[in-house]
Amino acid sequence: MKEKRGKHLILIGFMGTGKTTVGKVLAKKLFMPLVDTDIEVERKAGCTISQIFCEQGEAFFRQLERKILQKALSSAPSIITTGGGIVLRRDNVEDIRKGGWVVALTAERDELIQRLKNDSSRPLLKGDMGKQIDRLLSKRRESYCFADLTVDTTNRSVIEIAGLIYRQYQAYLALDV
Ligand code: S3P
Repeated sequence: MKEKRGKHLILIGFMGTGKTTVGKVLAKKLFMPLVDTDIEVERKAGCTISQIFCEQGEAFFRQLERKILQKALSSAPSIITTGGGIVLRRDNVEDIRKGGWVVALTAERDELIQRLKNDSSRPLLKGDMGKQIDRLLSKRRESYCFADLTVDTTNRSVIEIAGLIYRQYQAYLALDV
């Protein structure tokens, strides 16, 4: 028998694709709680993601991120916005798939640079941002392909993107998977 999937709406995607911004609009539109795994990691650690990477390392961050994801998936149906690297762990991917309906946001490389160029909060983009984005994008592009829906956010407004996701999520719920 097919395993029943959860009702969370989970946003995945590379850094700068707009997961947090779109997630906030969706949470309001759907009257659902919003959980942002990056914010929860920072809350739990009591410091910023940059500090975690610098003082405890990426592996520690990934462990914390996994715990936060598991907690979010075990709570009431929510909009869950995730960090771009959450898909690097196979167990996370499996749990995300089972937990609900998954939307991957994408954006063109130059658009990502425009959006991220004045933001220094992402440790993996330190140094030559263009080079880091190219390196990570080529490594990770396939990792987001398991999503139920992929939305290119380049040249689209947040309202348009949220509306598109909203309609398809309602259809997913109506299927009672
Ligand atoms: C990361 C993405 C970040 C944050 C951390 C690592 C990544 O989240 O989790 O800096 O590995 O792609 P955003 O995707 O929200 O920027």
